[in-house]
Amino acid sequence: MNTRKSVTVRVPAKVNVQLAVGAARADGFHDLANVFLAVSLYDEVTVTPAETLTVTCAGPDADQVPLDRTNLAARAAEVLAARHGLSDAVHLHIAKNIPVAGGMAGGSADGAGALLACDALWGLGTPRAELLKMCAELGSDVPFSLVGGAALGTGRGELLTPVEAGTFHWVFAVADGGLSTPAVFREFDRLAEGRSVPVPQASPALLAALASGEADALAATLANDLQTAALSLRPQLAATLEAGTSAGALAALVSGSGPTTAFLVRDPESALKVAAALEASGTCRTTRTATGPAPGATVLSS
Ligand code: C5P
Repeated sequence: MNTRKSVTVRVPAKVNVQLAVGAARADGFHDLANVFLAVSLYDEVTVTPAETLTVTCAGPDADQVPLDRTNLAARAAEVLAARHGLSDAVHLHIAKNIPVAGGMAGGSADGAGALLACDALWGLGTPRAELLKMCAELGSDVPFSLVGGAALGTGRGELLTPVEAGTFHWVFAVADGGLSTPAVFREFDRLAEGRSVPVPQASPALLAALASGEADALAATLANDLQTAALSLRPQLAATLEAGTSAGALAALVSGSGPTTAFLVRDPESALKVAAALEASGTCRTTRTATGPAPGATVLSS
């Protein structure tokens, strides 16, 4: 029986420590070897019974978040309700802290969060495997938002194998405006025209570095095949990457499809120093510091 009045779920952002991209597939997606690391930057999704499906959002970039049924949180409620023959009449409130359209899976986080929150609100107890399938219907990164930690994503990124990871410290530089993920993949295809694109494979050296918890080893192996495409669409990101490495970051890369840039640092003190230098450089809008791995979607209260 459903006696809950509201449920809040906390969901992490991600950074891709390796993003190997294959050639475009017939369905328009790309096969990936995608090593995800969840980081301690969170959105919170609260679901409450309502007369119709509504979405509200609060946070520094809330004005950039769609509040209609294109929002992945709304789609998650629709998908779960349809699966169980229920009404999707809920109010979804998103407390947004993850950069919007930033390459950190903020929209995917809200989809996974809403799915778990609605499942708890409606007392469904949907098996994990089924939730993961629904996540994959919502988007390639949504399953990882549910599980968190560190994982290798294959296929279009939705087929997950957990991997071991020590703790790492990060600074993220948030850019002005977002980048469209499909546009970045299209740019990747344009830049790859006439060249053969290798089958994407996880790097054994990177997986070993991730497991070791040694920041220098991870710094030497970070790789993002979408970085050239993101820089081609947003050349000013090169100055942000440079500002972070000049300030002492061990390595810098574009996060996923960007335009957020990620800086691996040795410790929390170094994170504060690099974040301050990035803010002073005028090459980004703001910064966040975080550690990873972070847990996946978690019910906080109900
Ligand atoms: O799966 P998701 O809806 O998040 O993907 C958004 C877009 O990103 C896709 O429509 C596609 O253009 C691109 N994409 C891709 N290959 C992937 C994942 C995403 O081309 N593996």
